[in-house]
Amino acid sequence: MAGLTDITRSTVGKKLLNGLTGLLLCGFIVSHLTGNLLLLVGREAFNQYAYFLHSLGHGAVVPIMEVGLVMLFGAHAISGISVARSRRRARPDGYKKSANAGGTSRKSLASRSMIVTGTVLLIFVILHVAQFKLGWGQLRDYPDVMIDGHASVDLYSRVVDWFNWAPMVGLYVVVMLMLGNHLRHGFWSAFQTLGANNPRYENLINTAGMLFAAAMAVGFLLIPIYIFLFVEPTAGSSLAAG
Ligand code: HEM
Repeated sequence: MAGLTDITRSTVGKKLLNGLTGLLLCGFIVSHLTGNLLLLVGREAFNQYAYFLHSLGHGAVVPIMEVGLVMLFGAHAISGISVARSRRRARPDGYKKSANAGGTSRKSLASRSMIVTGTVLLIFVILHVAQFKLGWGQLRDYPDVMIDGHASVDLYSRVVDWFNWAPMVGLYVVVMLMLGNHLRHGFWSAFQTLGANNPRYENLINTAGMLFAAAMAVGFLLIPIYIFLFVEPTAGSSLAAG
């Protein structure tokens, strides 16, 4: 009996950690999307924004934020997997009931989809940072641009060239739809865990979650699709020649 209480208590702790880290990551996603929308304004606006970010606090702010982000993503992923495992252990028949239409089965279907979309998003983030931040596999060498007399990475061209390649745009479309799905359920679930599960607010939280998820998915989808349709690849990229 005591064992069961311990499991329940530790599951609550993990759910709290998962909800809190998820909400903090939502803050990052909102600010990341806001900055990235400058890609639609143009080269100068986006590169200046990137330079501004990297020069904050004499260059100290971004590395500190990066350490925080790695910890947040790590804690969120580990607590999420752990909650799903305890839930599975607590139900000997696992997810077998998910074909039924009842409330419990809907819930288990949603949490199973959270594990799938969450895993895809984690793999995406690792590859995405390698692609855009570290410039792995980039389509040509990008000479630095000068901003306020300082040399800065031409992030705009790196992104524009990748999003002129149809398979990359297709991949981003699929992953951004998964992000929308993950945020929709995650938002609702985090507020439930944090105690905002009063039936009076249920509709409000559900609607807010849906609007938030849709806004993030549409915002992030807009960037690769707009670039693919309306922005030419930069001179010298292998895509420009074709
Ligand atoms: C169309 C969508 C997106 C675009 C165009 C985009 C663009 C970028 C760019 C250009 C960078 C490099 C920033 C730099 O070097 O300063 C970056 C970094 C990053 N992105 Fe995205 N991103 C997109 C979607 C996402 C999504 C959906 C997530 C998370 C779920 C994400 C997470 C990150 C992370 C964690 C970093 C590293 C931040 C850092 O090290 O400072 N991105 N992104």
